[in-house]
Amino acid sequence: MKNIRNYSIDTQCIHAGTKDDANGAVITPIYQTSTFKFQDASHGARLFKGEEKGYIYTRLGNPTIETLEDALAIIEGGAKALACASGMAAVHTLLAGTLQSGDHVVCSESVYGATQTILANVMTRFGIETTFVDTSDLAAVRNAVKPSTKMIYVETPANPTIVISDLEEIGKIAKEHNCIYALDNTFMSPVLQRPFDFGVDYSIHSMTKYLNGHADVVAGAIIVKDEGNYSPMRKMLNHFGGTINPFDAFLVHRGLKTLKLRVMAAQDNAQKIAEYLEHHPKVENVMYPGLKSHPQYELAQKQQLGSGSMISMELKGGFDAGVKLMNSIEIMQLAVSLGGVESLIQHPASMTHAGMSPEARLQAKITDGLVRISVGIEDVDELIVAMDKALAGV
Ligand SMILES: Cc1ncc(COP(=O)(O)O)c(C=O)c1O
Repeated sequence: MKNIRNYSIDTQCIHAGTKDDANGAVITPIYQTSTFKFQDASHGARLFKGEEKGYIYTRLGNPTIETLEDALAIIEGGAKALACASGMAAVHTLLAGTLQSGDHVVCSESVYGATQTILANVMTRFGIETTFVDTSDLAAVRNAVKPSTKMIYVETPANPTIVISDLEEIGKIAKEHNCIYALDNTFMSPVLQRPFDFGVDYSIHSMTKYLNGHADVVAGAIIVKDEGNYSPMRKMLNHFGGTINPFDAFLVHRGLKTLKLRVMAAQDNAQKIAEYLEHHPKVENVMYPGLKSHPQYELAQKQQLGSGSMISMELKGGFDAGVKLMNSIEIMQLAVSLGGVESLIQHPASMTHAGMSPEARLQAKITDGLVRISVGIEDVDELIVAMDKALAGV
């Protein structure tokens, strides 16, 4: 479709990326091939020299993968996109593609666990140091920046505390200090948060979550604001090999078509569930950006286009109440991950964050009674009845 960038995200989700097909296929087919045949030796030579556009080998490029990448760049509003084998392949490619020994990173302290591990334990082996700060505290961000700071890496809303960082203000700090500005936009998706409006240079996604949306693919993406940042990143991804495979690329592109519908439907459900939970006598506290009681409600209204569908709540009954709820809740599946059409529920203290000491968990505000819900698109009244029944037993 011509000029697709001028259309709304609703139309972009349906049409972005799709290639004209020799057989008239409406959907880009799955090019399930590892390699591509050259017409003759000089054709092969021209492709390798980059004198002619074409496909050589799927790790370097593939029409199905390119379809997804074009769609991602358009929907997120960046210049170009790279589809990766997982969200973590995207994070690793970004770090390896932009940083070098002696560089320093300022990163949100509430960041996805494996991102924290790479920065704290792996990048240090290559001479790259990271300071983790509460990025919802702008003074803390400013104080953490040093002359060697090359990147500010933010995740907002944060997992599992749903704390929100001010993207515009952090963007100003990044610009002032000439730092690369990276955002993990997984929790919001391009439907609800527009990274490049805030000066972000690289937007990262675990496409395993909302972008694919059906809990049947592990994949990731890097979207670059400026075309000039694309080529070095492409080389890094092609050489390190964290590329997505054609079948998963097809599935994610298929998922993108309903992205806006899914995100909005799940958000409507989440708002109703959060309002119900807020008044429940067994619930101490609910963290959801769409509730006025959220400490950063105003900021969420300002920088997000909606509140999303991730809710954290703290049960008055602590650890045991969390475990009981996990064992009795109906409809909601007891599983990690998020952003799919099905509601998922998990208890960080006994699951994702069980490896942390109780003191470290408390410092990260992950209390024993904290429960995280990724709200899906089931019937909301049925979800509330299921929650009501389960809470009655805790
Ligand atoms: C916010 C966030 N970023 C990155 C990742 C890593 O993505 P993946 O599991 O696709 O590698 C996750 C996974 O849960 C996540 O929640």
